[in-house]
Amino acid sequence: MGRDVIIACDFASKEACLSFLDRFTGRKPFVKIGMELFYAEGPDIVREIKARGHKIFLDLKLHDIPNTVMKAMASLSALDVDMCNLHAAGARAMMEAALKGLTRPDGTRPLLIAVTQLTSTDDTALREELYIEKPMKDVVLGYARNARDAGLDGVVCSPLEAGTVKEGCGEGFFTVTPGVRFADGDVGDQKRIATPARAKELGSDYIVVGRPITQAEDPVAAYERCIKEFVD
Ligand code: C5P
Repeated sequence: MGRDVIIACDFASKEACLSFLDRFTGRKPFVKIGMELFYAEGPDIVREIKARGHKIFLDLKLHDIPNTVMKAMASLSALDVDMCNLHAAGARAMMEAALKGLTRPDGTRPLLIAVTQLTSTDDTALREELYIEKPMKDVVLGYARNARDAGLDGVVCSPLEAGTVKEGCGEGFFTVTPGVRFADGDVGDQKRIATPARAKELGSDYIVVGRPITQAEDPVAAYERCIKEFVD
């Protein structure tokens, strides 16, 4: 899979999500389904969106003991998603078990990427609540290396961290980057942001774009703008 734009379908119901996707009559976007929609609608929402021809990143951020994660990943793999994720904090044994669970009998599997540290965690919380003394940058890179060594395909990070991750883990290690905003658009609650064009320069493989597309007056035009800046 090459560089692509993933739309974060952060909707509360199936109806809202499907009527949004109905607008896309040309190119079928790669979509991200997160906890909100999955917990509300269950695995059927994944099957339905897949049947409509979309690629799916199922963003459920698994984190449990290796055996549980292995079995949960086998269930997600049977749903035929294209990408899923876990917390690198679960450590290498959990990540290796996840890959094992995800791999189908024919040897194929969805891409598996790791969350390093959530962007909602800052250096103070890292030190005072998670009891991690190293600076965030070192922690993110260390977790990314663990994910690479466990055989994962990449990490979720800010576009601004994509270069560091590529340097530390190799060009072939994917960076999937939320925090994307148009130069003339609303920033909202995101802090470490880049435009689609800048994310491309910085080496992102996939940008995850939510509100700049879902809340746009013309979501299809906003999506096409992302494709033009990031992919073409
Ligand atoms: O609307 P917006 O473009 O900010 O949406 C970004 C999406 O990426 C949301 O689904 C958000 O949960 C997700 N995300 C993020 N930052 C992370 C991990 C995931 O914004 N570090």
